[in-house]
Amino acid sequence: MSVIYFDQAASSFPKPKAVSEAVAMAIDEYGANPGRGGHQLANKAASVIFETRAKIAKLFAENDANNVIFCQNTTHALNQAIKGFPLQKGDHIISTSYEHNSVRRPLEYLKTEKGIRVTYLQSDHNGYISREQLLNEISPETKLIVASHGSNLTGAIFPVEMIGSVCHEKGITFLVDAAQTAGVIPIDMEQMNIDMLAFPGHKGLLGPQGTGALIVKKTVQLDPIFHGGTGSHSEEIEQPKQRPNCYESGTLNTPGIAGLSAGIDEVLNKGINNIFQHEWNLTKYALEKLQNIDGVTVFGPDINVERLAVIPFVINGTDVQEVAMILDQHYGVALRAGLHCSPLAHETIGTIDGGTLRASFGIYNTYEEIEKWIDMIKEIKEGLVG
Ligand SMILES: Cc1ncc(COP(=O)(O)O)c(C=O)c1O
Repeated sequence: MSVIYFDQAASSFPKPKAVSEAVAMAIDEYGANPGRGGHQLANKAASVIFETRAKIAKLFAENDANNVIFCQNTTHALNQAIKGFPLQKGDHIISTSYEHNSVRRPLEYLKTEKGIRVTYLQSDHNGYISREQLLNEISPETKLIVASHGSNLTGAIFPVEMIGSVCHEKGITFLVDAAQTAGVIPIDMEQMNIDMLAFPGHKGLLGPQGTGALIVKKTVQLDPIFHGGTGSHSEEIEQPKQRPNCYESGTLNTPGIAGLSAGIDEVLNKGINNIFQHEWNLTKYALEKLQNIDGVTVFGPDINVERLAVIPFVINGTDVQEVAMILDQHYGVALRAGLHCSPLAHETIGTIDGGTLRASFGIYNTYEEIEKWIDMIKEIKEGLVG
């Protein structure tokens, strides 16, 4: 049975063929340790790493590739950015009411362990946060603002340009969680006044799992969260100061990074604006059909407001895990049910008890898949609640 994969917000699937070929080539043809020797194979691995770093820097308008830090995933990148940020007891961080646990848990850790004050700004269901609302929360102690670019629960897109301009005016560092938007919405760190950008390689950039990155502007100095071998300055006891080595202790994921490079090529070939348009068209189509099913409740932005390709919904009076299981086992549809690692966002939209189903689409999903899935939802609804 062929699977309809509607869990793109968790990890994109399938990957372009060029991605698995690049991973295989890295393992089969030059599987040496990048930056840990001067022989030809190590140099080849290092050059693939360097080219990918440069490609990522260009994609997000960062002019120094050494400010791109390879990570295992977004969570690793966010932990480095948040826990490595220089803060003192009494300092203040502002974030939003839609954050994933990968932002919320490090923030809560800083709150309880380091005495940092944290404010979560409420956005409305369309992702709107006003400038005044943000300005009202800023105090002389506010050192960092952390905001998700797009919600993994509702697809709402948040006003990062406005937040960035306020941060710029007030001299506050701005960290963006682009887990759901890298490769889907154009991001220009310079224009948007973003000081740190955390993102995965394995979602919109179409790379393998085990990849992600943090871009840190030269003006921000972080403490590394890991210490160890960097392949450089081995005689020194302390962690070297040079980027990117100071933040990249241990052997890098060369096969994953080679695959990520191929994934980014595919994104660039398709064009980020075209990718967004395709995903938004699918989402609008699915929303219209889903909202017309009696007994189904859909959450998130108004139907005419552009959102990411993420739709949270419930069949009223049913258990979301049961519906997800029927879709998976009986119909061959992969989607996720529950809290999606974002209890804060569920509290905000009023679905913390029980959570929701979540369908999320990607560049390879089609209208035909959505039509089939809508018929399945109707059948399941009839079967479970009549
Ligand atoms: C908004 C958001 N932030 C962070 C993460 C964590 O990403 P990763 O699995 O790459 O660590 C996710 C994953 O779904 C997410 O959607």
